[in-house]
Amino acid sequence: MIKKIAIDISNILINSTPSRDFDGLVGMRAHLEKMKPLLCLDTDEVRIIGIWGPPGIGKTTIARVVYNQLSHSFQLSVFMENIKANYTRPTGSDDYSAKLQLQQMFMSQITKQKDIEIPHLGVAQDRLKDKKVLVVLDGVNQSVQLDAMAKEAWWFGPGSRIIITTQDQKLFRAHGINHIYKVDFPPTEEALQIFCMYAFGQNSPKDGFQNLAWKVINLAGNLPLGLRIMGSYFRGTSREEWKKLLPRLENSLDADIQSILKFSYDALDDEDKNLFLHIACFFNGKEIKILEEHLAKKFVEVRQRLNVLAEKSLISFSNWGTIEMHKLLAKLGGEIVRNQSIHEPGQRQFLFDGEEICDVLNGDAAVSSLHCSLQYLVYLKTNHLDLFSCSFISG
Ligand SMILES: Nc1ncnc2c1ncn2[C@@H]1O[C@H](COP(=O)(O)OP(=O)(O)OP(=O)(O)O)[C@@H](O)[C@H]1O
Ligand SMILES: [Mg+2]
Repeated sequence: MIKKIAIDISNILINSTPSRDFDGLVGMRAHLEKMKPLLCLDTDEVRIIGIWGPPGIGKTTIARVVYNQLSHSFQLSVFMENIKANYTRPTGSDDYSAKLQLQQMFMSQITKQKDIEIPHLGVAQDRLKDKKVLVVLDGVNQSVQLDAMAKEAWWFGPGSRIIITTQDQKLFRAHGINHIYKVDFPPTEEALQIFCMYAFGQNSPKDGFQNLAWKVINLAGNLPLGLRIMGSYFRGTSREEWKKLLPRLENSLDADIQSILKFSYDALDDEDKNLFLHIACFFNGKEIKILEEHLAKKFVEVRQRLNVLAEKSLISFSNWGTIEMHKLLAKLGGEIVRNQSIHEPGQRQFLFDGEEICDVLNGDAAVSSLHCSLQYLVYLKTNHLDLFSCSFISG
């Protein structure tokens, strides 16, 4: 009994230590300020709050900081991290058994009891309806996950807060969640600080590295994920090595960044994947109406599909009517097409690199397989789109 009391007191002390986790993070105070009115902590109502934004923008990081700051003032708390990757639905299971399994994991984590067995889906509401809980469901990508773990606000006791992070805004609509924090790209000054924290362990570039740092930030397009991975990549390297490594980053996408971003691409259906690749390779920054004109025959309901990609934060629409895809996502699209046939460019769905187009046009081996791609390229070209490099024209 003494041992148990000691452990309980120790746990209470650990949990009540204020978190200093955001010391190394940039702009976190501003995020917390913006989250405050959404969290509205001084009311007894139960609130479900969404955090929405593209992959790698910092949703999990923000949710983690909020959780660390607040969890000590709730009776029970749980942070279910990266649900889309860690709790995938077993193949062949029906909706009910998938939900049961998810609720089982959820209950086991929130009550800190291993091997909990739940017979039906009413258990969560039964056990939690009079408890003030803080729940973070991070990286949700399917409705079934919310149905299993936080279907209704009244499942939880007064004062509870449920925070859900996702790339897919549609999930919020489907579950009637209206308190949403949309995470924006950090301003350039902040992006520089994020990059420098990872590259130099301080928030500004070391002497002599200013220009190189700006070049890398430009490549990462202010995306925190890119800034972190590229920053860590350069940590401890000399100026000469930086200069050697930079071209590699310019020409290809780092494997870690690629695998994280590809998660979102893999979750699309085949038609949406195809549209994603068209945008990545040809229509990024182009007017929506131009894309609609050119792809109307290729895709049924192009506009609706564009909206799906926008809801999943893979593209956005500018105020002046263009489609914007983040440069790392566009690079991912290019890599996917390139990987369709690494050694024989003529076998790929598209050709968009001027040099490769010239090579393929100059060789004769792949001409027949190129036929299709060429028709496509020429089709766009004759529609006066400036989509191809000069080398294609000269080729
Ligand atoms: N404000 C910040 N300061 C420093 N680093 C940050 C900041 N925000 C995010 N990062 C870093 O960027 C990376 C990506 O952030 P995070 O995992 O939170 O993105 P996400 O939006 O949850 O992505 P996904 O949609 O793939 O889950 C993390 O490694 C994180 O440490
Ligand atoms: Mg995340």
